Amino acid sequence: MNWQATVLTLFPEMFPGPLGLSLAGRALEKGLWTCRTEDLRQHGLGRHRAVDDTPFGGGAGMVIRPDVVDAAFAASQTPADVPRVYLTPRGRPLTQQDVRRYAAGSGVLLLCGRFEGVDERVLQAHDVEQVSIGDYILSGGETAALVLLDACVRLLPGVMGCEESGVEESFSEGLLEYPHYTRPAEWEGRAVPEILLSGNHAAIAAWRQKQAEEITRERRPDLWSAWLARKERNMAEAVGGAAQTDHFGV
Ligand code: ADE
Repeated sequence: MNWQATVLTLFPEMFPGPLGLSLAGRALEKGLWTCRTEDLRQHGLGRHRAVDDTPFGGGAGMVIRPDVVDAAFAASQTPADVPRVYLTPRGRPLTQQDVRRYAAGSGVLLLCGRFEGVDERVLQAHDVEQVSIGDYILSGGETAALVLLDACVRLLPGVMGCEESGVEESFSEGLLEYPHYTRPAEWEGRAVPEILLSGNHAAIAAWRQKQAEEITRERRPDLWSAWLARKERNMAEAVGGAAQTDHFGV
């Protein structure tokens, strides 16, 4: 069984969009994943197939009706164990941990909002996770859904070759990656760091680790604090573990 993405949207033509090309596109052709859409408009009401209405309590913009979203959920016939995710700037931030969880399952059901958002009751009724891809406002959830799917698809078995899959590691460890260089060794008066030409693999690994740490500390103090805390915990555990081994060894 392949991994199945189902997207509830007012713009089904936006899918698979850029995911029909390159790595995800080849995986789509190989049948490693599928991308279905459910057009919210098909479930709209009346002659104009209205999907939205004015917000109770007043205020600007329009809100997508719960009955319309509910009908689209039902029509999508997605199994109950598939995570339901609503893309919204009000959601919790998407992390690589979420992406790994989604990719490890049988697929995802994504709800893309437009206008002011979706009626809260239908999100509660269907146990929908609310997820944001960052602290900025997009014109709709579709491009956020494409980002989430891209991140998932590259992790599916058979999608990446060994060469590409190695790249993931340093972020998994919680640090940003060290900088990369290739030929020419000197370009427009800028030389590659000499250590990289030394052939000393241990020294190169140490240099890269230091670069990763410095860049993370500078650019992402949040990741840096988390990494330091984890390192400390691991060290404490290692000490505790050794004591325990001693104990059992007696
Ligand atoms: N819809 C609009 N902005 C968004 C964001 N930052 N993340 C997820 N969905 C969105």
